[in-house]
Amino acid sequence: MAISPKLVITDFKTSVNGILVVLTDEDLAFGAAAKAALKPTGDLVQRVAKIEKFKGKRNKVLDLAAPSGLKLEHVLVAGVGKAKDMKAEDWLKLGGTLMGRLPAGARGVTILAQLASGKLGAEEVAQIALGMKLRAYKFDRYKTKKKAEDEEAKAGAVEIRIGVEDVAAAKKAWAAASGIGDGIVLARELVNEPPNVLFPVEFARRASELKKLGVQVEVLDEPAMKKLGMGALLAVGQGSERDSRLVVMRWNGAKKKSETPIAIVGKGVCFDTGGISIKPAASMEDMKGDMAGAACVTGLMHALAARKAEANVIGVIGIVENMPDGNSYRPGDILKSYSGQTIEVINTDAEGRLVLCDALAYTNERFKPKLIIDLATLTGAILVALGQEHAGLFSNDDKLADRLIEAGKVTGETVWRMPLGPAYDKMIDSKFADMKNTGGRFAGSTTAAQFLQRYIGKTPWAHLDIAGTGMAAHNTEIGDSWGPGWGVRLLNEFIAAHHED
Ligand code: BES
Ligand code: MN
Ligand code: ZN
Repeated sequence: MAISPKLVITDFKTSVNGILVVLTDEDLAFGAAAKAALKPTGDLVQRVAKIEKFKGKRNKVLDLAAPSGLKLEHVLVAGVGKAKDMKAEDWLKLGGTLMGRLPAGARGVTILAQLASGKLGAEEVAQIALGMKLRAYKFDRYKTKKKAEDEEAKAGAVEIRIGVEDVAAAKKAWAAASGIGDGIVLARELVNEPPNVLFPVEFARRASELKKLGVQVEVLDEPAMKKLGMGALLAVGQGSERDSRLVVMRWNGAKKKSETPIAIVGKGVCFDTGGISIKPAASMEDMKGDMAGAACVTGLMHALAARKAEANVIGVIGIVENMPDGNSYRPGDILKSYSGQTIEVINTDAEGRLVLCDALAYTNERFKPKLIIDLATLTGAILVALGQEHAGLFSNDDKLADRLIEAGKVTGETVWRMPLGPAYDKMIDSKFADMKNTGGRFAGSTTAAQFLQRYIGKTPWAHLDIAGTGMAAHNTEIGDSWGPGWGVRLLNEFIAAHHED
């Protein structure tokens, strides 16, 4: 279950008890509010800083327990390094770091968001709060014996007050950021949930809950998809006892309601056994995360609606389960996709592109969007190339690619552009059909992208291969969730920067 700390924006005159957090740069200089609060401690901070070799470096925290002169449990002094170099992502990480350092069971927490070198803006405050919210997230729904400290933290459910200069501006910025945070938490939940709980119909049900926020949600069941001719997506799900679904989410927030939308499409394989081309047992459990693309799309739609983004955005997710069975599709099968193009199946484990090709072609034809971005845990090869540090970016449009790279730098959800080209495209020509679903041993991420490109025509398009970034995340300042909710902040930033009124 997600622990959601209560974050309250207030002014500097707020009463302080329990834990006080103050910020400092490398000069160990404090803002006026912190100076006033710390006055009764004399030169305690300076003395302890010296002994502990604390120099105000970024994300270093000095913990003064039971500081003399103050009736407080702790004073945490958090370093920001060179304050003027702090970017949005750094404030986010600072918030996460602080959350990680709050002792459990505090009576109260007050953060004075102020620097000696100038005031902290509303956006920066909102990023600190978002970092705290993300760091507090825990997926422990299935643990019947919770750790004592978790229980304590929950029981306390302390209010975290953030004192700021401009309360109204910070409240407004936090309202938006906390909506984004809820979207990220939703994406994390979906990725973390086990595959016996989160199967396609259940995923579609959870996506349908976005209706409460004003998102229009349509769910296509198997007969509907059959009627439309989605032979590729349906083939993947045909060996599973669980029905497949396609979900279309629409957020119409633009001032001009008829504004052409942009579209975001996600791969939602709730569990990928590989099918008849079955995967080896080692780490197969990780394939519950093979719906991280769809989770990101759903979390993004939540975020956009929650912050009432002034943009028209379509989110489409293809949700299936890839299982071996007497009714499974097989290597050698030839499928007819929604676009009419035929596909020879070489490997039933290259199923993501089959799900996406129908979702992409359908989205493109029905909505004629300005651009399409898809996200998919598509290939192990992207992990070999980029590890977990960047998502692979493939695009037919330099402007779109550059904008995504830029949004990646702003958010820290970085992407690295990979090549496309006719020579790679040739590698998926088939002897028996229009194309085959694998391109051989080499350039596996690119041949997968070439496959998708055959379904988007001339629409500006970008494909993000998130097999490395979308699941099995390592611990960071903003949390230790296995499902990181990767891509929600990236695409939210991309939309805010380029597609909002
Ligand atoms: N879902 C996997 C890709 C994947 C691997 C995601 C590791 C996350 C972590 C995908 O469906 C797959 O199995 N791809 C195959 C393609 C191959 C058969 C051409 C792969 O990467 O091995
Ligand atoms: Mn697979
Ligand atoms: Zn897969």
